[in-house]
Amino acid sequence: MTNNKQVEPAYSVLAEIYDDVMIGVDYETWTDYIDEIIYQYHPYAVTVLELACGTGTMALSLEELAAYDITATDGSEEMIQVAKQKARSARSDVKFLTRNFLDLNMDQTFDVAFMVFDSLNYLHSEQDILKMHREVKKVLNPGGIFIYDFTTPRNSRIAIKHLNNESKRVNNLYRYHRKSSYNAKKREHTNRFIIEKLSNESGNVAETYHEKHLQKIYTLPEIENIVKKTEFSILNAFDGFALEPAHEKSLRITMVLQ
Ligand SMILES: C[S@@+](CC[C@H](N)C(=O)[O-])C[C@H]1O[C@@H](n2cnc3c(N)ncnc32)[C@H](O)[C@@H]1O
Repeated sequence: MTNNKQVEPAYSVLAEIYDDVMIGVDYETWTDYIDEIIYQYHPYAVTVLELACGTGTMALSLEELAAYDITATDGSEEMIQVAKQKARSARSDVKFLTRNFLDLNMDQTFDVAFMVFDSLNYLHSEQDILKMHREVKKVLNPGGIFIYDFTTPRNSRIAIKHLNNESKRVNNLYRYHRKSSYNAKKREHTNRFIIEKLSNESGNVAETYHEKHLQKIYTLPEIENIVKKTEFSILNAFDGFALEPAHEKSLRITMVLQ
């Protein structure tokens, strides 16, 4: 019998197939970009904290540069379990911990904190964005830097055209469908994942899970105004994966704060 109505928190069941869903993402280039920014703004940095690390791909890739001691955290226990498994296979020294970035509770401080791939967009209010900055400030060493990106309304308007209604079989066990919608007025970008777990024997759908991912989409002036209310100053706001200033047509903006 098919169990068809299970609604799960974001990044619980998806953790099983996250790396397959993200197969097209060039994490190595992204890693080089973050490394480049660290080198430019904090060349002697050693200790690095990743927030919202997902299944750990960036942290493991950064470790390959043999330049940093890395701790990587995510709010989803399931994503961290996948990351830990990957770390064991790679004989990695990265320390993976389950942590909500609104309550980091670390027993160490760091030269750099970073967070990539729209994770800031999972914060839906200015109050929460301020809290996240306060949490990071608490765990940074003096002179430490904080790097993160967010996506813009323009990105959502464009992405919606190619992300909508994607369907894929990812391995022998799963099939997923993604439906995306963007409410430009409320600036809410919603990805709905329907994840079907297939039966080993018959290949029929054994379980169907639903995950809803709601992201709030921000402009650069909005984020700049929020950062002004924190103890950080903005060193730069970069356009996408470039070391050029962000502009009104930027799809993704990378903030560098100190
Ligand atoms: C788009 S994924 C990015 C994951 C990873 N950075 C990557 O590049 O693959 C967003 C991540 O943010 C995490 N996340 C969302 N809200 C969070 C919170 N309050 N605290 C910590 N992690 C959170 C999710 O669990 C998920 O792993």
